[in-house]
Amino acid sequence: MSSIIPIADLRTASPLDAVLRAAAHAPANDAGPLVDTRGRALHDLRISVTDRCNFRCVYCMPKEIFGRDYPFLPQSELLTFEEIERLARIFVDQGVRKIRLTGGEPLLRRNLERLIEMLARIGNLDITLTTNGALLAKKARSLRDAGLQRVTVSLDSLDDATFRAMNDVEFPVARVLEGIEAASAAGLAPVKINMVVKRGVNDASIVPMARHWKGTGHIVRFIEYMDVGATNGWRMDDVVSAGTIVKTIDAALGLENAQPNYPGEVAERWRYRDGSGEIGVIASVTQAFCRDCTRARVSTDGKLYTCLFANVGYDLRALLRGKHDAEVAAVIAAIWRQRADRYSEIRSASTARLPKVEMSYIGG
Ligand SMILES: C[S@@+](CC[C@H](N)C(=O)[O-])C[C@H]1O[C@@H](n2cnc3c(N)ncnc32)[C@H](O)[C@@H]1O
Ligand code: SF4
Repeated sequence: MSSIIPIADLRTASPLDAVLRAAAHAPANDAGPLVDTRGRALHDLRISVTDRCNFRCVYCMPKEIFGRDYPFLPQSELLTFEEIERLARIFVDQGVRKIRLTGGEPLLRRNLERLIEMLARIGNLDITLTTNGALLAKKARSLRDAGLQRVTVSLDSLDDATFRAMNDVEFPVARVLEGIEAASAAGLAPVKINMVVKRGVNDASIVPMARHWKGTGHIVRFIEYMDVGATNGWRMDDVVSAGTIVKTIDAALGLENAQPNYPGEVAERWRYRDGSGEIGVIASVTQAFCRDCTRARVSTDGKLYTCLFANVGYDLRALLRGKHDAEVAAVIAAIWRQRADRYSEIRSASTARLPKVEMSYIGG
């Protein structure tokens, strides 16, 4: 595993100086929407509220590398709720209309409801959350009351043994299903359900998963296993393509293609021919969607990443702690304007081995 760079080293990299120099000459919000060098507008923001997790999913935080003792950030390194809210307001002024709270496992962040209330007060903003569902049964109602609008729950199999093997902490399927029920009852329906498909591990669960949620209104999204981070030992051979996933479900349950809900939607939509609902497939490996990527990510310690596959981030926390909002906004604008990322389009066996930050830290 010589390609693994210690997470701490990656976290210190912050090529901010050049951007700060550019920002000095580029006022924020000077003319219309903020677009990057490929014409992509800034629209979505993902915020990792913790790098900790109670699962050890084999494709995300595999135990083999650090055991249960991941080198998590100390509490003092985390952005405070006040800093996250401030940053969110700045991003909204720059055109962001959707914020997804993620992690790590976001429901492990204490009093997350308070943050959601703070974000909900900003207005003009869609607030969503991605969770492994372990704590959702307990928290769905309070999250909804705080202003959460939608939730995505990860669930990789309905087969208990397969699911336990994938989360690698013996967590049972039934408890995640309770979480989805609770979310639905609290008014967070339809719930999106994310299933990462890894060949030979849970590909036999594709059709049972589709069948289980067909007709319920909830939407399963099948996700190609990606080469995020440097610890999951990703190999192309482990990827089941979106094309194969669609063919498999079509053969069993009958699918037809559906139009995207909006231009640049990440999941490709397919509906059941009998009218009983839809699924999504996210083909981030076999059909890269860099061209339409409007997403920025803020890591747990406040670094801005303009690509999931980046290995350096820009230290916004330092700016928040020393500069006025207008200066932070100018830096964000300068970073976005110079953005040229298109990792998935140029992915190859060799790029897959490049150092990248872990998904739990950058926010999945
Ligand atoms: C990193 S997790 C964070 C939120 C929460 N802990 C959860 O699991 O939903 C966000 C999403 O990223 C997905 N994910 C993690 N590692 C992945 C990988 N290597 N390839 C594709 N998706 C991945 C997870 O399945 C999950 O749906
Ligand atoms: S995918 Fe989510 S639940 Fe699984 S280890 Fe990563 S952060 Fe945790």
